[in-house]
Parts: sequence; C-alpha cells; structure tokens
Amino acid sequence: MGSATPGADGLPAVRLTGITKRFGDLVANDGVDLDVGRGEVHALLGENGAGKTTLMRILYGLTSADAGAVEVDGRPVTIRSPKDAIAAGIGMVTQHFSLVRPMTVAENLALGRARGARLDLEAARRHAREASERYGIAVDPDARVGDLSVGEQQRVEILKALARDCRVLILDEPTAVLVPQEVDALFATLRRLIADGLAIVFISHKLGEVRAISHRVSVLRRGVLVGTAPGDTDEKELARMMVGRPTFGVSRPDPIAHAADEPAVLQVTGLSAAGAHGLPAVRDVSIAVRAGEIVGIAGVSGNGQTELVEVLTGMRRPTAGSATVGGTPIAGASPAAVMAAGLGRIPEDRHASLVLDLPVELNLVMERIADFTGPGGLDHAAIRRNAVELIARFRIKARPEDRVGTLSGGNIQKVLLARVLAREPRAIVIAQPTRGLDVGASEYVRGEILARRAAGAAILLVSEDLDELLTLSDRVVVLYEGRVVGEMPSEKADPERLGLLMAGREVAA
Ligand SMILES: Nc1ncnc2c1ncn2[C@@H]1O[C@H](COP(=O)(O)OP(=O)(O)OP(=O)(O)O)[C@@H](O)[C@H]1O
Ligand SMILES: [Mg+2]
Repeated sequence: MGSATPGADGLPAVRLTGITKRFGDLVANDGVDLDVGRGEVHALLGENGAGKTTLMRILYGLTSADAGAVEVDGRPVTIRSPKDAIAAGIGMVTQHFSLVRPMTVAENLALGRARGARLDLEAARRHAREASERYGIAVDPDARVGDLSVGEQQRVEILKALARDCRVLILDEPTAVLVPQEVDALFATLRRLIADGLAIVFISHKLGEVRAISHRVSVLRRGVLVGTAPGDTDEKELARMMVGRPTFGVSRPDPIAHAADEPAVLQVTGLSAAGAHGLPAVRDVSIAVRAGEIVGIAGVSGNGQTELVEVLTGMRRPTAGSATVGGTPIAGASPAAVMAAGLGRIPEDRHASLVLDLPVELNLVMERIADFTGPGGLDHAAIRRNAVELIARFRIKARPEDRVGTLSGGNIQKVLLARVLAREPRAIVIAQPTRGLDVGASEYVRGEILARRAAGAAILLVSEDLDELLTLSDRVVVLYEGRVVGEMPSEKADPERLGLLMAGREVAA
C-alpha cells in the first residue's frame, strides 16, 4: 500500500519505547520500540515465538512489561489491565475469542459497554447496524454468538472494540481463521477503519497479506525488533529479515505410479454425517487414497470438511457409509480405535487435542503412553529422550518440561504435528497443517508431509490455502454442500475452475 501516512498532526496514535519482557531466562521482548500512526495499518511479522503476541498483550494490559513505556496520542499512559487499555482507546482481537456464546451479538456488545449493571440493548443494536453500514461489518445483532461461524465471531469482536470507542485496534493473526473471501471482506473493513483515522496493528504470517494491506511492517526476531520497512517490501527481503536468510518453497513431487487395481489404504465409501444442528453435513462421499498419495480436499469452509475429518478421526458418528484403513473399519470407532487401525490424526482444533496444562514431553507421548510405560510405571528417561529428539527435529521453541499452554501459537501446532508424524502412521488425516505457522515452519511441515508420502503413507489433506493444497496434493477433491462435486489431478486444477466448483457453480463430469 505504499509508505506510511501518520496522522494529520504527525503524532503516532501509539508509541512503545524500550519494551522488555522476560519469562524466566527467556527474553520474549528485548527493548522494543514501535510506533503506529493514525490511519496506518502496521504489520508485525516474525517467526513463531518471536514475541509478537507478547508485545501486543503488553499494550492491551493482558501482561505487564518488565521495562518500557507506552504513549497514546503523545501522552504517557500506564496500562495495568485491559480496562486501562480500553480507557486509553486500545482494543484487541485475540485468536481465542472472549465472547459469551449463549448470548446474542447485541447482548455481547452491550456487555462490553456496560457502565453499571444495566445493559442497553437498543443502543447495542443501533451500534451494530451503524457499524455494519459504515465499515461493512455484516452480522445479525440478534443472532446467538454460539451459532456464528468463526469469521462472524471475529466481526463481533471487532464491533465490540469499536463499541468501546477504540482508536487503536490490534488484530492477532485475524486471517488465520478466515477463508479467502472473508479475508477480502476483513481488508475492506480495515481500509474503512483507517480512512476514519484508526491505527491498526496487524499480525500475520502470510507475506502476501502483509504486503497487500500494510503501510509499514516491523519484524521481530527472538524478541528483538530487527527493523521497520515499507509495507510493499518484497517477500524475499521480509523473509530474510525474519529468519536471517531467504526461504525457498517446496515444489510438487513427482507422481508415484499406481496399478489400476491397487487397493486404497484409506477408503471412504458412501459416507454421510450430520452436522451441528442435525442437518446433513457430509453426503454420500466416496474417496480412495492409495499408499504414497496425497488427496487434497478443497472447499469453502462449512461445506462438510470439518465433519468429514471428525468422522474419520473418531470424533463424530456417521449416519451412513463406511471408512476403512488397511481394511479395518474406522467410521464410528473411538479415537483410540482409529489410531490403532494406523491412522494419524491432525485435526483443526489443536487446543482440543493437547493438554495445555501438561508439559510438552507428556503431550508428545500421550497417544502411545503404553510404549513409554515399563513394569515400574512411566519411563521418564525415555519420555525425556523422545521429547529432546522431536523438539530438535521439528525445531519446537520449548523445553521438554514447559507446559504446552505457555508456548506460542505456532509452537503448539508443531507439538501436535511432531506427535503424529513421528509415529509414522500408514494413513494420515490432516486439517490446516500450517495454520498459524511462520514461513520457515510452514515450509518445514510441508516437507515432512511430503516425506511421509514418499515413505508410502496415504494422506488426506484439508486446507483452505489453495496454493498449499495444489502444491502438496496429487489429486484434489472439491466438496460443496457436503458432496463431492469434482475431482482432478492437481496439475490440471486451475484456480479459476476450482473456485467455480467450490462456489457450487459448476459440476465436474
Ligand atoms: N506465559 C508465558 N510463560 C512462559 N513463556 C511464555 C509465556 N508467554 C509467552 N512465552 C514465550 O515467549 C516467547 C514469545 O511468545 P509469543 O507468543 O509472543 O510469540 P509469537 O511471536 O506471537 O509467536 P506465534 O507466531 O507462534 O504466535 C515464546 O518463546 C513463548 O514460549
Ligand atoms: Mg502469537
């Protein structure tokens, strides 16, 4: 978007000076200086664990700095809690939303504004309507938050910050949970917000997005701010700033020859399942994945991918049809039985598959605790050795004894991937493998997935990142309203045709 447009008066909306934060020996932020101008989108970039979230949690009062100062509109402010931050005009949308799910959108907004005990619902409704017109934020004020998609909930969080008159809006990886169409809508909203003079901090690992929306980008490396560059700095240079070297993407592997009658390792036949409201979500889906093959599932989110993955990983019962791994039925089986059949599961919701209060080393062995149990109980030395090896191999920024809950978002994802891939399962179901991972880590994880393919695993891959899907998969299957509406080899899948299929506009022969 070109270079910065600070405010008309030249003052930054917010200025951080010398922010330092330690967690024990670890320096998460090391004397960081950062300013964000009125009318500016300022991107924060950095590898997993670089300190981006920590810096913004300090600005929003969720954690306190050991040193440093904050100025808002040129005036020093002391921020000890989110309440102080909100009073200073700062709002933050974190990755884990803080909405009250059984309540409506308007009720949540009223709660956010409540002065005293009474909730002014009418004012909240009015605010929601005005904001959706003014900023293009579409949500129904009377919808129950629990019924909304993740993208819609994010819009409610933004509305909530705006309802509190925030002038500085922090968005921590907002696009990680959005499909491409929703990203476009979010960016349109951000453009209207900056036109109104708001200052926006935008955290993302996607360099294309950073270049598309930000005026300036600041890069953190191991807690240190390595520099602030114009928003249109080229991707190679940004990657170099982040990791100290250029990165190279993985390329599509050569196809592996299969005999026409080769049986599939993962066979899904006529599978149907109901979704959240008992409505059909997966309809008569048949997919065969052979050894050494990656089949990608493309589709706009909400078209049955989540439910399909849930059935295949033992989290949801099918209403019809079957699924087998190496001939063993898995549809309707428990997660343990599914794993015993040889299926590795990397579901979308990583927090649900890890125990955040337990250390990394126990999370890494949790799915095969019997292998680490001797006559005398848990073999702690073996558990520790396993963790040390996997931490090094997957470059997880953590110690074996750290609780998973204290890890950065990307490193939590790496723990999950390491746990599954290290078991070398013969079939793998993976959803959104690189969501929340930095450029280098994404590249590494894609390499690991391709390595499992080369070792003969049958892999079903669900990803909203079309580039990733087309690069890794041998074939793509398109789901629309729970049905398979197309299937083609990746090299014949042009994005435009896929887009039409995903939108239900065309049915492939
Ligand atoms: N409460 C905590 N206790 C101990 N360590 C912490 C805590 N919070 C963060 N850390 C550590 O501080 C470092 C910075 O974490 P932070 O979450 O800021 O990274 P990030 O840049 O947001 O990474 P990601 O891109 O993966 O989200 C990490 O090494 C993390 O493990
Ligand atoms: Mg983070």
